Amino acid sequence: MRLELINFTRQNWESRRGKREIFRPAKESPLHSCGDGVELVRCGDMNRLLFGDNLPWLRNREIFPNASVDLVYLDPPFNSNADYNVLFHEASGEASQAQFHAFTDTWNWADAAQTYAEFVDDCPNTAVVEMMDALHDFLRNSPMMAYLAMMAPRLVELHRILKPTGSLYLHCDPTASHYLRMLLDGIFGAENFRTEIVWKRTNVHNDSKTWSRVSDTIFFYSKSSDFAWNPPYQKHSEDYVEAKYGNRDEKGRYFTLDNMTSPAPRPNMMYEWKGHASPPNGWRYSKETMAKLDGEGRIWYPDDKSKRPRLKRFLDEMPGRLIDNVWTDISPSNSQAIERLGYPTQKPQALLERIILASSNPGDMVLDPFCGCGTTIHAAQKLGRQWIGIDVTYLAINLIKRRLKDAFGNDVQFKEQGQPTDFGSAKELARLDKWQFQQWALSLIDARPRTEGDGKGADRGVDGLLYFYESKDKREKILVQVKGGAVKRNDMATLLGDVNNQKFVGGILITLEKPTKPMREEAADAGRYTSKLWHDKDYPKIQILTVEGLLDGSERVDGPPQMNPFAKAQREAKPEKQQDMLREMF
Ligand SMILES: C[S@@+](CC[C@H](N)C(=O)[O-])C[C@H]1O[C@@H](n2cnc3c(N)ncnc32)[C@H](O)[C@@H]1O
Repeated sequence: MRLELINFTRQNWESRRGKREIFRPAKESPLHSCGDGVELVRCGDMNRLLFGDNLPWLRNREIFPNASVDLVYLDPPFNSNADYNVLFHEASGEASQAQFHAFTDTWNWADAAQTYAEFVDDCPNTAVVEMMDALHDFLRNSPMMAYLAMMAPRLVELHRILKPTGSLYLHCDPTASHYLRMLLDGIFGAENFRTEIVWKRTNVHNDSKTWSRVSDTIFFYSKSSDFAWNPPYQKHSEDYVEAKYGNRDEKGRYFTLDNMTSPAPRPNMMYEWKGHASPPNGWRYSKETMAKLDGEGRIWYPDDKSKRPRLKRFLDEMPGRLIDNVWTDISPSNSQAIERLGYPTQKPQALLERIILASSNPGDMVLDPFCGCGTTIHAAQKLGRQWIGIDVTYLAINLIKRRLKDAFGNDVQFKEQGQPTDFGSAKELARLDKWQFQQWALSLIDARPRTEGDGKGADRGVDGLLYFYESKDKREKILVQVKGGAVKRNDMATLLGDVNNQKFVGGILITLEKPTKPMREEAADAGRYTSKLWHDKDYPKIQILTVEGLLDGSERVDGPPQMNPFAKAQREAKPEKQQDMLREMF
């Protein structure tokens, strides 16, 4: 086996175009020091949830040394030009029709031009750079080229951090799959293309004017020819079982009958067995093995001595049917599915469990650099793998934290990085990205982010909402506003006006900067509201909370117990052994 990997010697790609070197991975990766087996997951010190753009994270060599990850699954935005939305639950438990902007899957060259220029200058893999140049000649400065310019440096980094035995699964659709496969061939080598999985994700659409597009594509590449692989099986279909395993023994076990004759002449296997003459080529088994099989009740005897005994193969001892590359048995996590969390591009957990079981082993490191609401992470945790998830949307990070807590309680441990932990980093986030700062600040009080209908027209000033029940059928709303910049006395009057005009019971201002004394006085002057259901207790109508106080725990919402507006993930059982999992699943 010849391993030709790309050498990354400095913090970022330092090598110039044209330089290609051989890399020998470190003997022992620091990401593999945790021990063995499913116990690993409990130590959890390698599990990480990273908030932010994945490219700088992937280039961080402390977190991602060369050859440190066993399995990568990525489900990047598909260049579908669609706005994605996250659904929230109404008090009735049904998904709200109003939707919330999560991320925009649109690409333009103006955003990508610089990334592309850096890529062609710095990428040490000249073959890939040449391919990208050729694609650029063909695609010009199109949205497709912008999309590929975004993907290329990330795929090069993912290749760098994969172990020699590692694998990568790229989930995409026909919009860009043809170009992505070329890119992957360039980065991994065409010889390391393993297969293209076709996943039937939906049913035929009635209104389709062409062949209904019902599938996604998942490309499977390995870093070398020596990659982790646990052959995946699934249960035989009922039709197959009926046709093949029609016999039952006295214990009720289904079996089929197999030939016991030798395919080639074997003189030492020619003997009479229990009154049945030797077949012309002899038996397949020695006399001793025949006696053992007989003792175990594994031989079927015909009444007619001129006919041959046959071997019983029991259905419950068969691994099942080897799974091929066309997957029609995993239904999408649609709005009815129990695992649905409301994230628009959420993938079914069974899909990720199948990939993780086949291409990694307990204790291995699984990475999803576009992790969305955390399906890969959930599956990896459940199957006793270590994991790292990255997402640029704070809402996704927040959903994952809730999902892990709901599903695993205190059994899951992980390190969070990239999100603000103190005043300074909160201020930096507010400076860099007002929208993500707002999402993050709302998550500090578990508020539901604004939906698309909110905050427009008459619904002015709504950044987020808190809900509580006032009676069985009536819920009340508290308006939440977030300020990442300077605050002034007028802001309190505006908040109170929005609360009164839109019939909220109260309003909360989350502010980065400390409120002034007049602001506090104005908030106090707004008075209080009473909740009958919650023991006639009264609460401030307008409340100011500072980011600093929320972070250090000295401030919190003073209001009746809040409803959870997020869908809940189902609780998972304790991690089991891989063999038990495989047996149970397929
Ligand atoms: C198709 S969704 C993934 C859905 C995921 N497989 C699941 O089951 O929930 C793509 C995700 O990539 C994230 N994303 C897009 N660009 C990113 C970037 N540059 N860095 C990190 N995450 C990014 C988006 O926020 C979105 O959550």
